[in-house]
Amino acid sequence: TKQLPKEKGIDHTLALLNEGYRFVLNRREKKDSDIVQTRLLGQKVILISGEDAAELFYDEDLFKRKNVAPKRVEKSLFGENGVQGLDDEEHKHRKLMFLSLMTPERLKDIEKITMKHWKAKLPDWKMKNQVVLFDEAEEVMCRSACEWAGVPIEEEMVEQRAQEFGFMIDAFGGVGERYQRGKKARQSSEKWIEGIIKQIRSKKLQPPENTAAYVIANHRDRKGKLLNTHTAAVELINILRPIVAIGRYVVFGALAMHDYPEETEKLRAGDGNYNRMFVQEIRRYYPFTPLLGANARKDFTWKGYPFKKNTLVMLDVYGINHHPDLWDRPNEFRPERFKEWEGSPFAFVPQGGGDHYMGHRCAGEWITIMLMQVSLEFLINHVEYEVPEQELEYSMERMPTIPKSRFIMNQIQSTAE
Ligand code: HEM
Repeated sequence: TKQLPKEKGIDHTLALLNEGYRFVLNRREKKDSDIVQTRLLGQKVILISGEDAAELFYDEDLFKRKNVAPKRVEKSLFGENGVQGLDDEEHKHRKLMFLSLMTPERLKDIEKITMKHWKAKLPDWKMKNQVVLFDEAEEVMCRSACEWAGVPIEEEMVEQRAQEFGFMIDAFGGVGERYQRGKKARQSSEKWIEGIIKQIRSKKLQPPENTAAYVIANHRDRKGKLLNTHTAAVELINILRPIVAIGRYVVFGALAMHDYPEETEKLRAGDGNYNRMFVQEIRRYYPFTPLLGANARKDFTWKGYPFKKNTLVMLDVYGINHHPDLWDRPNEFRPERFKEWEGSPFAFVPQGGGDHYMGHRCAGEWITIMLMQVSLEFLINHVEYEVPEQELEYSMERMPTIPKSRFIMNQIQSTAE
């Protein structure tokens, strides 16, 4: 076997937090290799990048997810005992619960719901001097998520709940206060959603049978048992929170429209097809998920390199979407690249790769694409606004990242129809 290119030093966790989205790229370039060994959180880690690497990473005979997420990520972003950390039959059974919610009819429902909530924002926006799109988008997504999922939410709680979901997402690469804020948000959110699960089970609350709230509250594991209240809440939050996360992609979409006026002209003039390519390019170009982790199930060799059982392997998600072997001029924003694109499940991985049913690939990819499309359509065809001077740069070190000023809009008008 070959020797793994190795980064010297006892631990590079701090470097990961400092270098953010470029952590793997920096090491790939330094070692001129798509596979580099390093050390993170006190353990040996193998970083892998490229299309073959993604294919390897999604081989379930070689990798498992149990106990992969650090406790701190479970306490803020993911929740404990959720689908992300399951393997094999238990995972497939739970995953099917999520995927059963993603029917074409239900996707149409959330598309309509979200457009309705965007339009409902207009009267208020017109009266205000300026609005921050990031906050508005998280709120619209939170309203849409709850309505679609069958979770009742009182008007005076919307802002707080939207913020809580946002804080969980924002905690990912955060230490200190940012992490604490995410952890507290999760505790508050879980308490709320556990109450909803209990009310559904006691029939005090009766959401329609095709909603996430109903399906998750009544889901039975392979032995025929209901999920315990806490796990059910974690899984329902696994629907609500990531819908709120789409707000971040909406902000990047608005930024792209601002930064690439020529592409935006094509978007205005174009059909749904250009809108779809634009959305794919947003998901490829802008940083969101930096890395994914999995543990080797056994000893094996790959491309001549040895992998030892229980080694943590991390997939370079951001780097693959920008890999020079896979993308022509990867650091340019060019929606048209998706015109001819063949759709490899391992070269374009903003929400994971492989197969949705067999592996851990994101259960919400269709919702994400649809809500990004409908949100762009709203920004293009239903509202006119100015983008005042502000700090639109986004850090490549912060994970997750967002434009500093969070996209301020002013002079807001409805588009005359
Ligand atoms: C998993 C990203 C939206 C539900 C994932 C994974 C990523 C991801 C990277 C992990 C893939 C893996 O472990 O191999 C995103 C991004 C989103 C988004 C960037 C949009 C901003 C959504 C939405 C939903 C959702 C809207 C649900 C409505 C899930 C679930 C999993 C998951 C349930 C766990 C799947 C499993 O472990 O089998 N997502 N996601 N996500 N996502 Fe998303």
